[in-house]
Amino acid sequence: MTDRFAAAGPVPPPVCPARTGATGVVGSRGTVPMYGPDFAADPHAAYERMRTVHGPIAPVELSPGVYGSLVTSYQLGLEVLRDTERFAKDPRGWRAVHDGTVRQDSPVAPMMMYRPNALFADGEAHARLRGAITDSLDRVDPHALSEYVERSAETLIDAFASRGEADLLIEYASVLPLLVFNQLFGALAADGPKLVETMMKLFDSGEEAAQANEDLLRWISGLVASKRQQPSADVTSWLIAHPAQLADDELMQQILLLMAAGTDPEQNLIANSLRLLLSDDRFAGELSGGSMPVEDAIDEVLWNDPPMANYGTRFPRYDCDVAGVRLRKGEPVLVSYAAANHEAAIASDRRSGNRAHLAWSAGAHRCPAERPARVIATVAIERLLDRLPDMELAVPVEQLTWRTGPFHRALASLPVRFPAQLATHAEPFAASAPASARSDEKPGDTAWNPVPSSSIPPAETSSERQPESPQAAKRRLLSFLTAWWRGQ
Ligand code: HEM
Repeated sequence: MTDRFAAAGPVPPPVCPARTGATGVVGSRGTVPMYGPDFAADPHAAYERMRTVHGPIAPVELSPGVYGSLVTSYQLGLEVLRDTERFAKDPRGWRAVHDGTVRQDSPVAPMMMYRPNALFADGEAHARLRGAITDSLDRVDPHALSEYVERSAETLIDAFASRGEADLLIEYASVLPLLVFNQLFGALAADGPKLVETMMKLFDSGEEAAQANEDLLRWISGLVASKRQQPSADVTSWLIAHPAQLADDELMQQILLLMAAGTDPEQNLIANSLRLLLSDDRFAGELSGGSMPVEDAIDEVLWNDPPMANYGTRFPRYDCDVAGVRLRKGEPVLVSYAAANHEAAIASDRRSGNRAHLAWSAGAHRCPAERPARVIATVAIERLLDRLPDMELAVPVEQLTWRTGPFHRALASLPVRFPAQLATHAEPFAASAPASARSDEKPGDTAWNPVPSSSIPPAETSSERQPESPQAAKRRLLSFLTAWWRGQ
């Protein structure tokens, strides 16, 4: 799912703690704001406050002037997510959009406004689109997927292993899912670097985002056309061949959904789990011991810091009472997976091996990619810790900051250091052609428009340690990927 909340709105002024029942802030109309740095720094304190003051459903402000209700209780969350009779997923009945209060350029629009894909559909339309998605994802061979992840991981680790330091968020967690998707969807291996670059522009929400969106849709359209002509063992071809007989537009939108829905949460699952593994005493000492407790760390993150922390947006189809609160038709209700999990975790003494959390949601829209998403995160983390076993956080864990925004639990960066190593120089993906790579592909082939050489930053030659901006880190990574693909 795309995320464009980095530039979320102004921070509301602090108010008397007595008004909220705890230290914190309230937004206009007495709602709890979910978009500022206070919320990002300690969302669990905010959930606790909401529960104390409002009970299981709290009035919240998602971005300045955008209001809704947040469900913080596990049972009630399940009830809302499963109740398709009272609650619609399709946001086209959103009252505040109809009355002009929320505009199409609102910061929450990318996550909440309608698009013609499974995520925003209900009933039979949803079942048809989702059926094509789940059936196609079910055909992914976990072994082939693990291999894609390993190769992508090796490539990315090679880019920073000799430096002895890296920002794992920018240089690893955010890019790896895209390289994997490139292969999963049967794209040319040469398209990987450009896909990464385009998605980065899209997520940056800067001036180039609109162009990046167009480029991406054009690229997906080309991919669909080429797979219609020459199908192979990949998700794009399986979607095309599905009995639901999706039209080209529908195919493009579902592929876009899969790529976008997979990138940000997957990045955060990897990064949040790495943060835990590198900072929590319970995992210390085991990282280099061969039996890395990666699955345990992932489960812990899914309970405590689920990547999609508050989503599950639903719209009441009519005015209704839920837990004594009047919900108005067309006013958004969100389920806080994070708060619900926390409540359930406190109530239960059987946490070990228990996966009853709501991190993947529940009901009709439950994430259809749990299995591949877990494989990607597990293999990505294991590979990294295997290659760089003496890795440690480069700053105290308390100094790590979280991105603002109401929906996700997302680190802003994850700087680490480790003893520098020589790169292994992994082969480009096409060289050993796992399932979906094209056998006729040569370095230089690409389905994107040719990249003018002036836009490719020169490869870095110095290994000097200098602090760098996220933009510089991204440029260096793209430069590496491009050079790597060209065999340089
Ligand atoms: C391979 C990576 C992933 C892919 C391709 C993917 C794909 C999708 C898709 C297509 C949907 C919409 C399903 C529908 O509406 O019927 C969805 C929903 C969802 N995904 Fe994923 N996902 C991925 C990873 C993740 C991760 C890592 C998480 C967090 C742990 C996550 C959490 C969710 C949640 C909470 C929903 C439900 C949203 C709602 O209730 O409205 N996903 N995902």
